Amino acid sequence: MICLTPRRLKLARRQKDGDKAYVLRFVIEHPQDEDLATIPGQFFMLSLSGVGEGPFSYLDLPDSLGSFSALIRSKGRLTAALVAQPVGTVLGYRGPYGVGWPLLISRNSILIIAVGYGLVSLASYIKETCNWNLPANLRLLRISNGCASLEFDTACARWKQAFNVAELVVPDITDVQPEGQALQQIARLLAEKRPDAVFCCGPEPVMQAAAGLSVARGVAPESIWLSIARRMSCGVGLCGHCHFGTAYVCMHGPVFRYDHYLQQLRHCQPQVPRFGDWLY
Ligand SMILES: Cc1cc2nc3c(=O)[nH]c(=O)nc-3n(C[C@H](O)[C@H](O)[C@H](O)COP(=O)(O)OP(=O)(O)OC[C@H]3O[C@@H](n4cnc5c(N)ncnc54)[C@H](O)[C@@H]3O)c2cc1C
Ligand code: FES
Repeated sequence: MICLTPRRLKLARRQKDGDKAYVLRFVIEHPQDEDLATIPGQFFMLSLSGVGEGPFSYLDLPDSLGSFSALIRSKGRLTAALVAQPVGTVLGYRGPYGVGWPLLISRNSILIIAVGYGLVSLASYIKETCNWNLPANLRLLRISNGCASLEFDTACARWKQAFNVAELVVPDITDVQPEGQALQQIARLLAEKRPDAVFCCGPEPVMQAAAGLSVARGVAPESIWLSIARRMSCGVGLCGHCHFGTAYVCMHGPVFRYDHYLQQLRHCQPQVPRFGDWLY
């Protein structure tokens, strides 16, 4: 039976990270086996009594003490209230939910494209890969609009010691003009070495363009994964808020294999709305 009752989660640390974002460290009060089985790219539902509940990505995964972190950007009522809570506040937690990034142990070349706050979901994948020393040859392209983030700057500086990290600052991270800097840089990296797999998280039109370029460069659609965002309510496939074609993003995603993503896109209205606002 699906249990929708939130578990108790304590805010253990909060640190400002740039303009409107905070890195929050949490501790799940009674961690369970399922917490340790969390996969990078999955999400959790976080609630504040009397305010609301929303989906968030793991910046790093829960450890055996139930401690993990998230990067939350103040966008509206819920996120503004969450980042304003003092250390010690008890919040509601449900998760882990959804489908995360595949752990491609045998693949030897993965190109990771993180656009804007899309790096949150991919950071836990990169951290796990580094922790377990998986034999993956990673390349990361971080595209941002130059917004300060100590968390990401520090992480990228550390990752540069271990693998190839390219950073690109563009005025508009949603720009999908073929001659724009972002797509040019993606095309360059694909031409330099064709990856065995591509992971991408960011605004949906940019992910679509990046996946299209990858396919044009000979990467199979079955070897490309995108993490997509939709408004969510239940988080477990019951309410229908997050439907995408015949799938529910909370249950069948948020990470979709590109061929499955295209299949669902064909079931949608011809005009696909611009989701993933929080990533901009
Ligand atoms: C799988 C997933 C993972 C997420 N991970 C993070 C994260 O790690 N950190 C983070 O800060 N935010 C994350 N979000 C977005 C976060 O859930 C929303 O910003 C939050 O719920 C908005 O609530 P609010 O009341 O503060 O803002 P609202 O007033 O509800 O919305 C403010 C603005 O954000 C947009 N928005 C709200 N919810 C979503 C959504 N689900 N998808 C796209 N746009 C939305 C609205 O269109 C509006 O423009 C994630 C969303 C999903 C679906
Ligand atoms: S959020 Fe309810 S079905 Fe996905």
